[in-house]
Amino acid sequence: MDKRILEKIKQLKEKRKAVIIAHNYQPGEIQDLADFCGDSLGLSIQAAQTDAKVIVFCGVQFMAETAAILSPEKTVLLPDKFAGCPLADMINTEQLRQLKRKNPNALVVSYVNSSAEVKAESDYCCTSANAVEVVKSLPADKPIIFVPDQHLGRFAAEKTGRDIILWPGYCHVHVVITEEDIKNAKAKYPDAIVMTHPECTEPVKELSDQILSTGQMLKFVKTSSAKRFIVATEIGMIHALKKQNPQTQFIAASDKAICPNMKKITLDKIIGSLQGLQYKVTVPEEIRMKAKKALDRMVEILPR
Ligand code: 13P
Ligand code: SF4
Repeated sequence: MDKRILEKIKQLKEKRKAVIIAHNYQPGEIQDLADFCGDSLGLSIQAAQTDAKVIVFCGVQFMAETAAILSPEKTVLLPDKFAGCPLADMINTEQLRQLKRKNPNALVVSYVNSSAEVKAESDYCCTSANAVEVVKSLPADKPIIFVPDQHLGRFAAEKTGRDIILWPGYCHVHVVITEEDIKNAKAKYPDAIVMTHPECTEPVKELSDQILSTGQMLKFVKTSSAKRFIVATEIGMIHALKKQNPQTQFIAASDKAICPNMKKITLDKIIGSLQGLQYKVTVPEEIRMKAKKALDRMVEILPR
């Protein structure tokens, strides 16, 4: 990596009293220069706990928004204003309100990959790491609406035995990974453990040994004695895993599983973000308060 660019980022960070946080799917060079790396919720909690005034969020819109919901007094910056999440955009407030009108007794659980407005219309939030626990904690006599990811919702339904009203959203990056990909990788590396993100399709999950969020994958590998893993999630995860476990072999289930939005963040855009304090991510106070309630309820159930 160009030392001058790194030096410039370091100087600007000091000037702005900023921290750089990066999701596990970010390009490797951005993960390497970040002050903190992690999964979506872990990063927002980091963001809330830091003393820094400015947070450069290297991830996508909903992640920066979650940080802004939890830390309204801080300046949250997304270096590329078009770094969105198509899954989060698959449901809007009007669609959720209609679903609630059809199921007036239901509790709404929204995946953190959703807009602040959708969170504000929800009773609970969850992440891929705690969806099962959140659903399990809900009263047995209450129907549950789960939005927007059908695959995570179905996984939570199977694990808890609860009937869940699903929204047909999906992540275009994870559904690209096929059964064939897993079968081929297993044939080539029969001793490898298959770790899969819950956003993958059901047939892929059935062929897997472990269904884990990105943060859980890192924890799992740390305590496992296995030497080889097939990784069914966005390929940025391979960098994070290798960095933590240099002696272990990680095989991407599919090299097509690339999130183009995550890869919109570049070193130049981080410099631009620190120089111009752009692009500020804010949430209107009324929505923020309601969305925070759904996030707080999740944290109450599971302090992570
Ligand atoms: P994690 O919360 O597991 O990091 O996942 C975020 C995400 O965007 C998955 O596609
Ligand atoms: Fe959204 Fe999928 Fe990209 Fe995650 S990997 S940010 S869910 S599009």
